[in-house]
Amino acid sequence: MDGNGRWAEKRGLPRAVGHTRGAEVFRKIATACKDLGVEYLTVYAFSTENNRRPEDEVSAILGLLRKYLLESIEKMERDGIRLKFLGNLDILPPDYRKLVRETDEISKRVCGMQANVCFNYGGRDELVRAVKRLGGAEPTEQALSDCLDTAGIPDPDLIIRPGGEKRLSNFLLWQAAYAELIFTDTLWPDFTKEELVAAFEVFSARKRRYGGVDR
Ligand code: IPE
Ligand code: MG
Repeated sequence: MDGNGRWAEKRGLPRAVGHTRGAEVFRKIATACKDLGVEYLTVYAFSTENNRRPEDEVSAILGLLRKYLLESIEKMERDGIRLKFLGNLDILPPDYRKLVRETDEISKRVCGMQANVCFNYGGRDELVRAVKRLGGAEPTEQALSDCLDTAGIPDPDLIIRPGGEKRLSNFLLWQAAYAELIFTDTLWPDFTKEELVAAFEVFSARKRRYGGVDR
């Protein structure tokens, strides 16, 4: 969900306002995905590297996380969207971790689309944590996948990066092996359901061979 800061700066507003707007767009797009029949949506909310940002920006984002945790605890069952957090959440204050646990508990009861929110997430950090979890076990692809934060979640078919940059920035490095990539200059707070549908159409026209050949 890239481009929140620039969206705000372009309007002479504090960057935090862009994050607030970005979080609202997350809710809108998550609902659109659910209505379109998407089973899993995974968003990159905060990277391990985003911790390098000024303290006030990091705390604004943490504030939004709290708001979302509280709201999702209240609304998840009604909305039919299960929220799951991926990433290293050990750095979060204890009250946040408690909210994450509550969200996980409710998710078990809710059926519907699963929205994964990557928070303090980095693909490399995830891999290092997975290798630690693997311990001395035989390191097969399946065994390693089962130790990732995304264990049990299918690999992404499509990754859409808004905000104009053309890179993965440490997002789902292992899982993205055969994902189709779409880059758009639209800043995340301006991203719409129409653009999402257009991206799905581009995706549908792609030929996926997974290293094989067309027959
Ligand atoms: C994405 O927006 C949200 C986070 C990374 C937390 P940015 O904050 O990266 O916005 P730009 O890229 O500076 O516009
Ligand atoms: Mg950015």
